Amino acid sequence: MNAEPFRIKMVEEIGLPPKEERARLIQEAGFNVFQLKADDIYVDLLTDSGTSAMSDKQWAAMLTTMQAYAGSNSYYVLERAVKDVFGFRFFVPVHQGRAGEHILFSNVVKPGNIVPNNSHFDTTYANIKFVGGIPRDFVVEDAYDTEKEVPFKGNMDIAKLEDFVRRNRDGISLIMTTITNNTIGGQPVSMENIRETGEVARKYDIPFFIDACRFAENSYFIKTREKGHEDKRIKEIAREMFSYADGCTFSGKKDALSNIGGILATNDENLFERIRNMLVVTEGFPTYGGLACRELAAMAVGLDESTQERYLEYRSGQVEHLWGKLCDAGIPTVNPAGGHAVFVDGKRFFPHIPQEQFPSQTLAVELYVESGVRGVEVGTSCFAEVDEKTGRTVLPRLDLLRLSIPRRVYTNNHLDYVAENIAKIHKRRDDIKGLKKVYAPPLLGHFLAKFERLS
Ligand code: F0G
Repeated sequence: MNAEPFRIKMVEEIGLPPKEERARLIQEAGFNVFQLKADDIYVDLLTDSGTSAMSDKQWAAMLTTMQAYAGSNSYYVLERAVKDVFGFRFFVPVHQGRAGEHILFSNVVKPGNIVPNNSHFDTTYANIKFVGGIPRDFVVEDAYDTEKEVPFKGNMDIAKLEDFVRRNRDGISLIMTTITNNTIGGQPVSMENIRETGEVARKYDIPFFIDACRFAENSYFIKTREKGHEDKRIKEIAREMFSYADGCTFSGKKDALSNIGGILATNDENLFERIRNMLVVTEGFPTYGGLACRELAAMAVGLDESTQERYLEYRSGQVEHLWGKLCDAGIPTVNPAGGHAVFVDGKRFFPHIPQEQFPSQTLAVELYVESGVRGVEVGTSCFAEVDEKTGRTVLPRLDLLRLSIPRRVYTNNHLDYVAENIAKIHKRRDDIKGLKKVYAPPLLGHFLAKFERLS
């Protein structure tokens, strides 16, 4: 039993434009769901980022904190929360995760340097490229088998990583691991794997940073799936994970249950000084880091709430609920359910649509027209790349539709509606044609890309 550990104090009406209008709207949006107006969406599963419903305690903290350029009390409250959860010696607030990534990579990644990760998310990938670095993924092979159900599918392939690091030591400026592993299905990374990654980094004297966006969900999976952790508190598990790393980037828009914000933390005093100097230029003074002080207060309370076990039990139960409904309807999903989202395997959903014709993007378009539900492609549109040497387009191995569940926002009835509509599309899948990309800017091009329907 994992019913909501909260009750609803305020509601927001959501509309649903008629089907013919939805067909027109998505066409006007260039068949790109990022270009739709949120007002025209019924159930919005585009992202779990910045979309959480904040609690009465978070709103109260926002109202009662002070606003100051330097030394606001909200900074000190956040400092305590950050110490409690992450345990690193130094940190700065930033306006969101990617701001921290940009500052970190600008300070440690030199042009031509490689950054291994289990799987880079699109923003880390783009920010590494932006400073001339080369992002490389070393996730375990199981991650590419969407049907296979293993408990820690987000893990780094340690043997592959170590072999690569040994051969390329001087070209590597930083090793990262992303918890949970968003790109391949919101899949968790085990404590053992984080520890082993840290050992490889230390052995070769390379800094190791965790992309900690969904650390609470990852901790819950460790507690429920990894031997020896079942009796530990979530914060204890989190601190142990971070104890193997030299620092982290973190988007407060996920597991700090906040609408904006992030942190960048490190144990390295010298690096911290450089980070702080750059922060003052690009984000703001170190006690607010690009945020209004009230937003720091919301993150501090959110960190406490997201690490409560009852909340996490409900949270993972809800994601699993949607996954179960899709499995029951015979929809090809990434197995098992992720921590923040359910992913549908677009290539298996539409076996007749070649990957170059964007099967998961096609499903996102169909889903919006069918039901007013917005999911997002994480696949070919995000990660296909032209190989500079051969001029050939290299396709990513996975092409997925992500259905991210905002925290504390929708009920299971909403999710049943989503599952029913995906099942409807699945029944008529053979009649559906793919898409052609007609425009995209070079970095993070999927946000602004335009498509046409193939006939
Ligand atoms: N790392 C991961 C694993 C993420 O999922 C995200 C954001 C970021 C870094 C960047 O954080 O948005 O605060 O700048 N993911 C969102 C998503 C956008 O939809 O998955 P940010």
